[in-house]
Amino acid sequence: MTAAAAIGVIGGSGLYSMSALTDVQEVSIDTPFGQPSDALIVGSLGDARVAFLARHGRSHRFLPSEIPYQANLYALKSLGVKYIISASAVGSLQEAAKPLDMVIPDQFIDRTKNRAATYFGNGVVAHVGFADPVCNALAAELATAAESLALEKVNVHRGGTYVCMEGPAFSTKAESHLYRSWGATVIGMTNLTEAKLAREAEIAYATLALVTDYDCWREEEESVNVSMVIENLHRNSANAQEVIKAVVKRIAANPPVSEAHSALKFSIFTDLSQAP
Ligand code: ADE
Repeated sequence: MTAAAAIGVIGGSGLYSMSALTDVQEVSIDTPFGQPSDALIVGSLGDARVAFLARHGRSHRFLPSEIPYQANLYALKSLGVKYIISASAVGSLQEAAKPLDMVIPDQFIDRTKNRAATYFGNGVVAHVGFADPVCNALAAELATAAESLALEKVNVHRGGTYVCMEGPAFSTKAESHLYRSWGATVIGMTNLTEAKLAREAEIAYATLALVTDYDCWREEEESVNVSMVIENLHRNSANAQEVIKAVVKRIAANPPVSEAHSALKFSIFTDLSQAP
């Protein structure tokens, strides 16, 4: 059977598989941008076919700067994916967003330095609109799904700004305070790059940001370290699986109308009819 899926799920640190998938196919895809982070796992969740990809690989072997983002989004597109839910561990830059809370950001700030974040160039010039970097219709479904579960000790925050840093080292205190002064909500190392490539690929994209720590700005708290992140990730992962199940059901029942699906309509500068 040829693998196909309308919904993609990208799992970040701590989310390396989706136990709810049935009738599973493991699909290895080669792309013009090389191999994705790992094989894609395509399976059923209710009536929907879902393609799951572990962003860092199932054994967590790619640094944020090393992730083959172009191949990952290309592979999902080649399966027919129209909606991506991206689950990711983040640090919190606001008191109100506590560890174990979920944030559904609606904006990003780009602090990356060292990664390819476009499919264009090499003779084709395009500039996609990115004023609204996540699909608001999909983000609303995600937030409603998360809220509907009323998970114990988990607040769901609709909207917020995600700072995407290069890493791999965590931020300095000066940087963390700077991002807070900008009004940012959470910080992570991966989602903006995916959101840009998803937009160019005309895929609707939304982030489920899972708070693991308070980064390093909060004086009364130990600064973020990996064991802190991992401990909370294990607790977040079960919650994330429930939210993903609920949002997949919602998308399958009522696929959101997304402007992302026609993102290239007014974006390409190059006169392709004159191509040599
Ligand atoms: N991922 C989880 N916690 C983080 C933090 N504090 N900074 C950047 N990425 C993170």
